[in-house]
This record gives sequence, structure tokens and C-alpha cells, in this order.
Amino acid sequence: GHNNLNAKLVLLGDMGAGKSSLVLRFVKGQFLEFQESTIGAAFFSQTLAVNDATVKFEIWDTAGQERYHSLAPMYYRGAAAAIIVYDITSAESFARAKKWVQELQKQGNPNMVMALAGNKADLEERRCVPAEDARAYAEENGLFFVETSAKTAQNVNEIFYEIAKKLPRA
Ligand code: GTP
Ligand code: MG
Repeated sequence: GHNNLNAKLVLLGDMGAGKSSLVLRFVKGQFLEFQESTIGAAFFSQTLAVNDATVKFEIWDTAGQERYHSLAPMYYRGAAAAIIVYDITSAESFARAKKWVQELQKQGNPNMVMALAGNKADLEERRCVPAEDARAYAEENGLFFVETSAKTAQNVNEIFYEIAKKLPRA
């Protein structure tokens, strides 16, 4: 019906930030301590009911290793939404996330719904990126921000749900 929506969503971010783990948590409710690094990209789909609508996410989980960077436009081109993931224990991953935001602002779909996920929130004792810094950055750039943990499931469904609510309705 007219309340069903397909939405292409891409995850971008540094290697090891937890993109695949967030997807695995969202799609299968699982977490692996030794998740393998993604090669190229992986595809998943998951349906979410939001208010009176059903959103079918078509999810591209990209590889964070630098040598795959040139493939990224194939996955974010035409995407309705992006989740840019960093690891709260890695300042370098936060810097990398900002680069992805810049690239999407220049090359991405201008109506793209963008979320910034500060992942590994369960590792508070190893935190390097203050939540306030990320929140301020997200506000300046019009992104939705949340800290997540693929391990504990903190805010994982919530981030997809918030994106689903922000998608433009046909
Ligand atoms: P690439 O595919 O190389 O780009 O990495 P990725 O961003 O997909 O990261 P991945 O999901 O493979 O996770 C990297 C490592 O971090 C794995 O060992 C995961 O178990 C671990 N990890 C992911 N998310 C979390 C989390 O929320 N908390 C903790 N403690 N570990 C996590
Ligand atoms: Mg991966």
C-alpha cells in the first residue's frame, strides 16, 4: 500500500568502528566478539513498522578499510539514509567520520537523512571522544546523533527507528 516504503541505507565509517556489528544486531539480534572485517560491502534487508507505515531498509554495510574507499559512492549514491559510525574509544575514527560527512555533503543525495553513531558506548572507561563534542558537531551539520552499542544493543533499534521516522513520505 501507499504506507510501504523502501529505503536504501548505507553505513560508512572507519574500519573496526562496528558497522557490521550494528547491522548484525539490528537484523539478527546477534553480536560477535570476533566479527570479521568486511570485504567490499555486504547487503542486508530489514523491515520496520513505524506508526502507520512499514519501512523496508535495504542496507549496504560498507568496508571501512581505506583500500575500499573508492567503492563507497556506488553504495551511497541514491541512498535515502546514511549512518556514519565511529568508535567512542578512537579519536581517529571520529576524525574519519567527519570526513565521511563532508564527502556525503558534497557528493551525496541532498535530501539524505544522516545519522552519526558513536558506537562501543559500553566501553565508557576507554572513551576518547566526549559525547558533547560529537553532539555539537552533529547539530552544526544537521545530523541525528546517538551513542550506540552493538554489544549491549543500546540505541541500535532506536537509530533505525529515528531514521525511518525522518524519511520523506511519498
Ligand atoms: P570493517 O568491516 O573493517 O569496516 O569494520 P566494522 O566497522 O564493520 O566493525 P565490526 O563490526 O567488524 O567490529 C569490529 C570489532 O569491534 C569486532 O571485534 C566487534 O566485536 C567489536 N565491536 C563492534 N561493536 C562493538 C560494541 O558496540 N562494543 C564493543 N565492546 N565491541 C564492539
Ligand atoms: Mg564490517
